[in-house]
Order: sequence, then C-alpha cells, then structure tokens
Amino acid sequence: MARLTTIDPAGTQIPGPSATLIYDDWYPAIRSSELRAKQLKTAMLLDFPLVLGRRNDGSIFAMRDSCPHRGIPLSVGWFDGNRVTCRYHGWEFEPCSGRCELIPSLSSHDHLDATKIYATSFPCVERDGYAWVYVPGPGSGRVKDVDALPPVPELPKFSQHYRSAHLTADLPCNVDHGIIGLMDPAHGPFVHQAWWWRSRSSIREKTKRFEPIPEGFRMAAHAPSGNSAPYKLLGIYGEPVETTIDFVLPNRRSETIRCGKKWFASLTTITPVTASTCRIDVIGAWNVFYYVPFVTPIAKFFGAKFVQQDQETMIQQAEGLRHNPSLMLIDDADKPAKWYFALKQARLDGSGKHPMDGPVDLHWRS
Ligand code: FES
Ligand SMILES: [Fe+2]
Repeated sequence: MARLTTIDPAGTQIPGPSATLIYDDWYPAIRSSELRAKQLKTAMLLDFPLVLGRRNDGSIFAMRDSCPHRGIPLSVGWFDGNRVTCRYHGWEFEPCSGRCELIPSLSSHDHLDATKIYATSFPCVERDGYAWVYVPGPGSGRVKDVDALPPVPELPKFSQHYRSAHLTADLPCNVDHGIIGLMDPAHGPFVHQAWWWRSRSSIREKTKRFEPIPEGFRMAAHAPSGNSAPYKLLGIYGEPVETTIDFVLPNRRSETIRCGKKWFASLTTITPVTASTCRIDVIGAWNVFYYVPFVTPIAKFFGAKFVQQDQETMIQQAEGLRHNPSLMLIDDADKPAKWYFALKQARLDGSGKHPMDGPVDLHWRS
C-alpha cells in the first residue's frame, strides 16, 4: 500500500490512501438492465461477493453469494423468479429478506424451524439504471429497517424530457486513489489532451470558491472554464452558463451545468470492488439537443474517451504504486484530496468533524 507523505505548510498530518472502506452506505453494484427474470448475476462490492437477480414481480435483490449452510456460492444454484435454491442441499431462500423457506432434508423427527435461518441479504434499489446496494459493515448483521437508511443517491433532472447515457470502467487502484484522481483539477491538460477538450497550451490560472456541505464540499456555482469546448457549446444559447460540482462521501461527485432551460447533469461514483480495486461509473443526463438523434452516441463516444484517458493513466500509476513509493499532496491543487481524506477519517472515527470552517478560494493553474 503506497504511503502518502503530505507536504503541508501547516504541518497537518493527513491520512493517506488506505485499504479502509466506508460501509453503511449505498453503492452502485451492477447495471440493473443486466438483471433479468429467472437469472442470477454476480458482482463484487466492497470485497463482498454478491448474487443479484430480478424477481417475477420486477423487484431486484442482492444477497451475499454464499449459502449460510456450507458456503457454496448461491449463484451456482437455481432461481425460479421467486426463490433461490442452493445447488448443494437444496435449501430454498426468499431473496429479498434472505429467509430460508425450505430445508428438504428435514424429516418428521426434526424440530428445526427453517424460517429462523437467513442468508445475508442487502437492501437493493433500482435507480438511474443501476442496482444500488446498501452495504453494512462486516459482521453488523442484517439491515432490518430499510426505511431508516439514508436516501438512495439520485441523478438530478431538471425537465421532463431528457437523454441519458452511462459509462463504466474498472480501475486497478484502491478507492482513495480513484477518488482523488476524480477530483484532481491539475491533470486535465496533461491526461485529457484532445482537440475537442483542451490543450496543454491553454493552461491558465484559476480561482474557484469551495464551500462546506454535509460530508462533502461544493465548488460554488461559477461560469465554467471558457477554455473547454463542451462548455463553449452550451454558450451558444446566449444565456449565462452556471455549473456546480459537489463531492459527497462516500464516493459521489455530481455536476450540474445550467444555461436557462438547458441543462446537463452527471453523477460519477468511484466504487470499491475490492480493497485494492475500484470502478468508475458515470451517469449523465441532458436536455441539450435531446431531440437530435445522434447526440447520445456522440456524447457516449466523447465521455468514453475521457474516462478511458483516466483509466489508462491509473493503470500506469498502479504500476508505479506496486513499489510502494512515498507520495505527496500539494496546495492548492490537492486541497480537495486533503478534504476528502479528512472527511473520510471523520466518518470512520464518528467525530463528524468537517475540515472546512467556511468558504475558501483555491488557486491553481490548469
Ligand atoms: S450448502 Fe447450501 S444447502 Fe447446503
Ligand atoms: Fe480525469
């Protein structure tokens, strides 16, 4: 695990990337379109192997992919749209609650009540094309009161008609490196060089105002960088363009760009797959040109290029991190990364302490 040495004029010690994961929150596990009736799918999420499916009534479920009897993956068993049957001894489970409904080997001499036995099931909700799964900490038992959980994250939409697209890429690094890569303002001109985005020679000084929000921070509404082509595109409507970018624990960056009635919104998440790997998912929606047929594939093409550039860089970085180098976070460009580590620490130790006491201006060149 790479250590992170912080170069910080104030000398503050900041926790670096670690294998510590944030449990007790919602994460996107799999595209919900992959869940079809009578089929079982698997996914890894925060080091938990999951089995997911869609019941005959259309609802989706997620269970730990392990039979509570002897641990064989439930995904190698059967699913008839109502019950998941283990292929080893045929125990049958109701997948939403995980409750065991039948143990075929029990005879009239046995007094075991099968329904007292539960396979581990996780709260699971379909939203914005993903199966969102609530992952409690290891050993904390079944979530009984789903209504008491925090709301499922949602991509904001500002009109009835819109188009949407999504992108996914596996990243070979731990979630912390994925997240600080996501919020890193200084890599753009180097990693995302492209005629349609920006070039290295367009680097200039930026000042952005950040303000604290619960468990996160917001880059306050501002006119987006005039040197980025996609923003120029929105500018053709002749109204002021405003963009807001929020980062909120455990892993969510949401961006909205609004220009009069036209809008674009995205929700990007970096989800731990295992302690050392993660996945980026981007969901985007917009009503700009939504009536023009080829906009979605074109947007997907450019979005995919962008994510691919990040992915390639992180594959190269993972090569370097294998040899356990010391790393740095510098002001101001890495300040959001420092806030992230402090927020994560505050969540993990339960202090709830926010690293920012008010709005601050950050300056960097990009
Ligand atoms: S291992 Fe699943 S029923 Fe025995
Ligand atoms: Fe990037």
